[in-house]
Amino acid sequence: MEKKNSCCKVCVTGGAGYIGSWLVKKLLEKQYTVHATLKNLKDESKVGLLRSLPNANSTRLVLFEADIYNPDEFEKAIQGCEFVFHVATPMHHSVGSNKYKNVTEAAVASAKSIAKFCAKSGTVRRLIYTASVVAASPIKDCGSGFMDFMDETLWTPLNVSFPYCDLHKDYLQSKTLTEQEILSYGHQKIGGGLEVVSLACGLVGGRDTLLSFTPLTVAVLISQLTNNANFYKSLKYMEELLGKIPVIHLDDVCEAHIFCMENNQPMNGRFLCASSFVSTSEIATYYLQNYPQLRPKQEYLDGPKREIKWASTKLIDKGFVYKYDINMILDDSITCARRMGDI
Ligand SMILES: NC(=O)c1ccc[n+]([C@@H]2O[C@H](COP(=O)([O-])OP(=O)(O)OC[C@H]3O[C@@H](n4cnc5c(N)ncnc54)[C@H](OP(=O)(O)O)[C@@H]3O)[C@@H](O)[C@H]2O)c1
Repeated sequence: MEKKNSCCKVCVTGGAGYIGSWLVKKLLEKQYTVHATLKNLKDESKVGLLRSLPNANSTRLVLFEADIYNPDEFEKAIQGCEFVFHVATPMHHSVGSNKYKNVTEAAVASAKSIAKFCAKSGTVRRLIYTASVVAASPIKDCGSGFMDFMDETLWTPLNVSFPYCDLHKDYLQSKTLTEQEILSYGHQKIGGGLEVVSLACGLVGGRDTLLSFTPLTVAVLISQLTNNANFYKSLKYMEELLGKIPVIHLDDVCEAHIFCMENNQPMNGRFLCASSFVSTSEIATYYLQNYPQLRPKQEYLDGPKREIKWASTKLIDKGFVYKYDINMILDDSITCARRMGDI
């Protein structure tokens, strides 16, 4: 694999979010010139967060305003870039929109436009989409149980019912249909030679963040320690959708994105991205054994113990190495929440 250290231009949509901002930080450290998009450039806190990064002068970090509900706004940010990371996702429907009736329509339309702008740019070689493992569930189509493996061949059946299924219905639909749409541009016929990679990431935890609060997914990972019922429901949702919970460290997520960019071999298609695949009861056991002073409740040990194999090796086969196992991810997530005053 050839390491790039030039000032090659790359675009990051959603550059001020949890994953996006850490990715921008790493790219700047690696001497890339970054075009980052934000939904609203008047949001001083988000602009300030990126501008305060080392190397973030106006030549190396160029900020663009682009709303997923107005897909054409992404074109300027993509122009002249060699690689595009599409990280932004609308979490809630913009009720004022008369163009799209829900987040899925908006997310799919913007993914389509972004892929088209990449293909017609004449400069973009590879588009890398931050997908989610929620789109790759081993749940059976009939809803009765799980297959005994999880890998890139699986697509979540969208009409299946399971415990907690109403919780993140819009997100599940939007991530699944957007990933399918964007991957279709990786075919020669539609994308005109554009390479498209989707990185379907597990639940992200870790110690560091540029945000001034505990990131949502870190709060979900430590919900058995904070006893936050809503965040714990989200953890159970993941377990009931996927059988067990794929987890990954923020640092590994960002390194995996950069790996997919810097990999000099042709790269197309879907890659699951998680270093661990664990049950809620395994997480509870770790907390009980290692953080007894935080008094995790015994009842969290009662979760299901399913035999489902993590059978995804595509990213590792390409040469990617995960640095963080589940214990390190949980330890670091606790450190993050402690720093924010949430534990
Ligand atoms: N965290 C995880 O565990 C996890 C796991 C798998 C996949 N992912 C994926 O990773 C990506 C980033 O997630 P995150 O955890 O970093 O969440 P996040 O902090 O909430 O980031 C979401 C990003 O999307 C942007 N966004 C939301 N609505 C938008 C709109 N209407 N127009 C333009 N941008 C909009 C936000 O931009 P502004 O900041 O400018 O508002 C923000 O940068 C998402 O695609 C998510 O599905 C996350």
